[in-house]
Amino acid sequence: MNYMGLNDIREKFLSFFESKNHLRLASSSLIPQNDKSLLLINSGMAPLKDYFTGAQTPPSNRVTTCQKCIRTPDIERVGITSRHGTFFEMLGNFSFGDYFKKDATAWAWEFVTKVMELPVDRIWISIYLDDDEAFEIWTKNVGVAADHIVRLGKEDNFWEHGIGPCGPCSELHFDRGEEYGCGSENCGVGCDCDRFVEFWNLVFTQFNKTESGEYLPLDNPNIDTGMGLERMACIMQGVDNLFEVDTIKNIMSAIATKAKVEYKKDEKTDISLRIITDHIRSTVFMIGDGVTPSNEGRGYVLRRLLRRAARHGWLLGIKDAFLHDIAEVVIEQNLISYPELNEKKAYILSVLKLEENRFLTTIEQGMQILNTFISQISQNEIKTLNGDDAFKLYDTYGFPLDLTKEILSEKGIDVDEETFNIKMQQQRELARNARVDESSWDNANDDYEKQVAPAEKSEANARAHSATHLLHAALRKVLGEHVLQKGSYVGDDVLHFDFPHFELITPEQIDKVQSIVNENIMKALPVDISEMPIDEAKAKGAMALFSEKYGDTVRVVDMSGVSVELCSGRHVNNTGQIGLFKILSESGVAAGVRRIEAVTGYEILNYINVQNSKFDAEIDRFKTEIKQKNSEIKKLKSSAFSNDNDAATTKTIGDITASVLQIDTTDIEILRNAADALKSKAESAIALVIGVEDGSAKFVVSATPSAIENGVNAGEIVKHLSGIIGGRGGGKPNFAQAGGADLSRISDLSDEFFTMLN
Ligand code: ALA
Repeated sequence: MNYMGLNDIREKFLSFFESKNHLRLASSSLIPQNDKSLLLINSGMAPLKDYFTGAQTPPSNRVTTCQKCIRTPDIERVGITSRHGTFFEMLGNFSFGDYFKKDATAWAWEFVTKVMELPVDRIWISIYLDDDEAFEIWTKNVGVAADHIVRLGKEDNFWEHGIGPCGPCSELHFDRGEEYGCGSENCGVGCDCDRFVEFWNLVFTQFNKTESGEYLPLDNPNIDTGMGLERMACIMQGVDNLFEVDTIKNIMSAIATKAKVEYKKDEKTDISLRIITDHIRSTVFMIGDGVTPSNEGRGYVLRRLLRRAARHGWLLGIKDAFLHDIAEVVIEQNLISYPELNEKKAYILSVLKLEENRFLTTIEQGMQILNTFISQISQNEIKTLNGDDAFKLYDTYGFPLDLTKEILSEKGIDVDEETFNIKMQQQRELARNARVDESSWDNANDDYEKQVAPAEKSEANARAHSATHLLHAALRKVLGEHVLQKGSYVGDDVLHFDFPHFELITPEQIDKVQSIVNENIMKALPVDISEMPIDEAKAKGAMALFSEKYGDTVRVVDMSGVSVELCSGRHVNNTGQIGLFKILSESGVAAGVRRIEAVTGYEILNYINVQNSKFDAEIDRFKTEIKQKNSEIKKLKSSAFSNDNDAATTKTIGDITASVLQIDTTDIEILRNAADALKSKAESAIALVIGVEDGSAKFVVSATPSAIENGVNAGEIVKHLSGIIGGRGGGKPNFAQAGGADLSRISDLSDEFFTMLN
């Protein structure tokens, strides 16, 4: 068995199954479609459920995929161990009523022994306790040694989720060697230690479990398999865990470089590096699939992962937003399989940057408060921060406890965690009691905290949220009833709103929408929030969202009838509190989906200030540019006029060559240069250059030393000539200048000049 890169393994798997007449499908989005039972896609079969149940006809009876997956139950363990991760890719081959156990096992064996070239004696097979059919096939058809097959119970080798299609499974395990074992006599496949790694699960979906608990054989059994790509990569690369797999290691290296630390030098640093590495993978893919940070559902999972990664960056000493830089590495490492990441790159980076910067502001504010606590503690010579203050930091300023502990420990101060925990518990209960059912998913496995982060209690959030409702209503009024929220991001005074619309939106329509929202803000409409039975809410015309699951009792946010929506979020009491609403942009985010980005409240002031400084900077830029251009024009004119001999009238008067030129600029420097050029034509020369521009005139007379010797005096000539154009002027014998505004006799200057020289 030879070293193989992660991207190579993926390709080898997919093309192997293509060679077995499977249709290769691209990974589905991480956002489940028409499936309320899942928050995020967590296995290869999840997006294909409708094909398994027969609700939809598959494009082929044999399909192979590499599916992006996210699993969050172990989020707290990620980083602490090197085994856990939230993001992974699952390779799978699926049969929808086509081939079954014989082919599934034979191909799995062929792939691992012939393509991956794993040594046969290190592969172990587990089967379900009484699945004799699988035992027969593995030993007789495939030729696996009977002593390398173990029978495990339902917990390990039977796959079912509630009622519906289910069946026994058979797993492939790789023996990493005795040195990884726990040494126990019973150590073997299924042991918790690190020796036997399960890397491929073949599910034989052959039963339909009924409500009464019966397992009825399916007429057309299915095959669903899942091989962890990262796990196979660990095996093929001879490394211990996913963080050492080639593409993932590259991401971690970029983080380590940024933080100026090294992996495997210090356990605390390693934890942070692993957390950031895992979470940045999840977040890049989630944002790429259209999840936006929010306080609910999958948006909250994203926010939590993102802030956790940002916090660990901060702990590593990176004080500026950096996740967007690392995201570029994630995108680069995954381009082969997910080229769409490149198209969405700018968007992904901007969401990361916005969210991370917001979080860093929270940290900065918290640091200021914490510093006052620290100085109080130091003055009082106590070495503990009381739990109330620690909780205040967390609850009011969103400052995480572990960060407080981390900073204080450097000063030899600890935290009264007991009081903190009591406060935390009280707050959770309050939140739980106050919360109505806002879940859009109900997967018992995904037990992340759904409480509203404190990290969001601001009025600014309420302003943006209420404005979103007004925007929704205004869009429906201007564009039509087909406008229904498809996605929304509510930040502090900033919001995104996605909705289906298949035409371009005109600037006039945008103006109209913005005006309607602002009118409804200025009317200062009271916002009424009440709970009622869903039927009553529907009768009231309350708008519900497709993607949400509602209970029997719902919370209705009624903005004096202008907008009535089912919503569990935080809102202003009166639309007047929103202040003002400004649309910043309108764009297409997917086929038939438009996005409006807007700001409310203080963000509008920020927006104006930013615009003003941009405007000032632009003006400065223009000023400098104009100055430069003017000087260029001057140079060009100067050289053009200086070389314009044809336009000059030249006469020889006695020993003197006298020239006159009229040009259309009154810039003295240009006039002078032109005169100098003219007089350079002869040893004894004098030149008059007249400039007329914008209703006034200036002229210069310049004479060579030899002409002066011959009796001419530029100063005298100019004195006389200036009278003709109602001006004044004078100078020296070699050079003089004058100006005037009476242009009626301008043409006499030339004659008068020549006359004076006679
Ligand atoms: N659906 C099976 C799993 O996720 C293959 O393990």
